[in-house]
Amino acid sequence: MTPGPRKAAAYLGALAGLSLTLAACSSGADPAAYPEDDVEIVVPFAAGGPTDTVTRMIAEPMAQELGVQIVEGAGGTVAAGQVAAEDPDGYTVLMHHIGMSTAPALYGDALAYDPVADFRTVGLVTEVPMTIIARSDFEPDTLEDFVTYVQEHESEVTMATAGEGAASDLCGRLLTSALGVEVTVVPYDGTGPAMEDLVGKQVDFMCDQTTNTTTQITEGTVKAYAVTTPERIDALPDLPTTAEAGQPDIAVSVWHGLYVPAGTPDEVVEKLTAALQTALADQSVIDQMAGLGTTPVELDRATPEAHTELLTEQIATWSDVIGTQGG
Ligand code: MLT
Repeated sequence: MTPGPRKAAAYLGALAGLSLTLAACSSGADPAAYPEDDVEIVVPFAAGGPTDTVTRMIAEPMAQELGVQIVEGAGGTVAAGQVAAEDPDGYTVLMHHIGMSTAPALYGDALAYDPVADFRTVGLVTEVPMTIIARSDFEPDTLEDFVTYVQEHESEVTMATAGEGAASDLCGRLLTSALGVEVTVVPYDGTGPAMEDLVGKQVDFMCDQTTNTTTQITEGTVKAYAVTTPERIDALPDLPTTAEAGQPDIAVSVWHGLYVPAGTPDEVVEKLTAALQTALADQSVIDQMAGLGTTPVELDRATPEAHTELLTEQIATWSDVIGTQGG
């Protein structure tokens, strides 16, 4: 399906961010008739990464109601800020994750938006485990060996992230803080391109979501040390948890949610929440997520209320953690 001319031209010219264009028939902004025009879901990281992967999974079933097309870009907090400035008509949606809750502490007054005041929540999507992985020829074979190696080599070791405030950055901070080391951070537009360099042995390690690492770990194109969840995961049964490997403080899962600009009418939010819940109940989504180490949230969490509750709690939590770490 092709995007409507109004939204497509406006979108491609303005937003730097991956988008899913949910095509429809004619333009309009009548909440009762919503959607009458294209709807974009903006993913603020480069194509091929875990946030893009999760968005593609839910877009298919959501497209039962509307239809989907993908346009590429990259942007992190830039794309989130631009979505906040879009018309509150439900035609621009943001997919974002735990980074919405860390950005205020990391960026302070420089942040171009308020994650709570400038958005309405649509609902939570999934909480994705993270894995500590390295290039396949990296010397350490276990997390214990990795800890010793990084403590001995510090800044000689390179760590890929998707930029400050990304989940990969957050997990990296937890890791280096727990180990008491400084490594050389190599930022990318997303962990999709970062994974390409890791498989290509251009960077030493990273902490990334199972939706981006399960295949590479299974195929052996990267070395895996641990998963950051309390229990091992079915998709990677042989991978120890960080707690088993002696690093219980490196424990984080990446929750994802959908947002629309503040002021979006209730009727529009309700239709998007319903479409999201349809997607999360879809067996193909459940199976795809299971194959990549994660699950949809319970449907009673795929609601604006539950999403807002988690977002506000997480902003407070990570503000404390990041404040303690010195930002
Ligand atoms: C991150 O926070 O590391 C991002 O999710 C990576 C990505 O989606 O590309």
